[in-house]
Amino acid sequence: MNPSFLETTWTDPVTGRKGYVVLDTLVRGLASGGLRLREGCTLDEVRGLAQGMTRKESLVYDPADNYLPLGGGKGGIDIDPADPQAVDVLRRFLAAVLPVVKEQWNTGEDFGLRQETLDKVAAELGLASTVEAVFATLPDAPAARDRLATAFAVDVDGISLGDLVGGYGVARAGITYVERLGLAPGEMTAVVQGFGSIGGAAARYLAAAGVTVIAIADRAGLIRNDAGLDVEALLAARNGLGIIDRSALRPTDSTAPTEQWLDVPCDLLVPAAMSYVIAAADAGRIDARVVVEGANMPTLPDAEAALLARGIPVLPDFLANVMTNAWWWWVVFGDIAPTAESSYAKIDTVMRRLVDTVATDAETTGTTLRASALALASRNSAAVQARVGITG
Ligand SMILES: NC(=O)c1ccc[n+]([C@@H]2O[C@H](COP(=O)([O-])OP(=O)(O)OC[C@H]3O[C@@H](n4cnc5c(N)ncnc54)[C@H](O)[C@@H]3O)[C@@H](O)[C@H]2O)c1
Repeated sequence: MNPSFLETTWTDPVTGRKGYVVLDTLVRGLASGGLRLREGCTLDEVRGLAQGMTRKESLVYDPADNYLPLGGGKGGIDIDPADPQAVDVLRRFLAAVLPVVKEQWNTGEDFGLRQETLDKVAAELGLASTVEAVFATLPDAPAARDRLATAFAVDVDGISLGDLVGGYGVARAGITYVERLGLAPGEMTAVVQGFGSIGGAAARYLAAAGVTVIAIADRAGLIRNDAGLDVEALLAARNGLGIIDRSALRPTDSTAPTEQWLDVPCDLLVPAAMSYVIAAADAGRIDARVVVEGANMPTLPDAEAALLARGIPVLPDFLANVMTNAWWWWVVFGDIAPTAESSYAKIDTVMRRLVDTVATDAETTGTTLRASALALASRNSAAVQARVGITG
């Protein structure tokens, strides 16, 4: 692994909690990547996530877009998002790393952190947004700010567009891949771990496409119905931590411990919560056509090898969940209108192109989807480098 451009470890003077910022690469002096809140979060985890952001940035590169990929970065704070002190710790962390946020690191929500919470804390610190470093490079920043604000104000059936685009992309990735195997969405089943921004939207759009979503795990447990869960009812019963109010379950829905999400046979298995949730010992429990990584780094490398040995491919995180990041920049750089229609049309086109390119390459060269996606990201990165230079 190449050394990161910047790694910072912060210690909260009040609670002793650690926070981390890693800028893996800079392009034109800029990096992009969210901030997560997770009890047990480590520098190594944030390093891996930042490297994933470098890949996501280059993977979607299209020379015809205004959006020029940035470098990859990430932040993480070792605290449970449900901890009553979490927002105060977040505020002190952001204040400490403010110069990096202002100049280089364009950030947003990730696991355990909602964009609206992050925006509120940023505003308290005098920041107009969490992507000020990019705005500073644009010829018409006020118009870009307006587009972003307009896009985030779009509500699609009770959920902000910004909280939907990533999971929409995950759903499209999984469906596109399994359609290549000859199955129509109406014949597919899915299991989703995590019911927050990514998992909630992935479940919504899988169900909307006709996929039967048979199990959903949140922090409180697993909810299962082999005839299909009522995803919209569960979304309406979800709290800010992505936990479903169990009083909304139907009599035919059953519950089980959350760990059992790996034991439910399905076509699309969608981890969309924490990292490192599929270990080698779990591979034998999984009975799926494909694992679609909605979460970042959910599958450990030896688990992926064990799954491949059993004929179960893994659509890698930096492809499957790339759309939140890309969408921000398509809106900011003016490649799409700040509407749901324009956003979903662009995601459809780009996700189909990415899945088709990567799957075809993997089939013809006999490599894995991850290796093929990495090769595409690295070819694109070379093209970006040739165009603008990479400084980190
Ligand atoms: N939010 C984004 O924009 C974004 C973009 C790309 C990738 N991701 C990745 O997607 C994953 C989820 O992020 P998010 O933003 O949707 O998080 P979130 O905080 O919105 O939701 C997390 C969900 O996981 C559930 N959860 C927590 N602990 C659990 C446990 N032990 N077992 C089962 N479920 C549990 C929560 O109840 C909640 O439903 C992360 O890996 C994140 O890095 C997020």
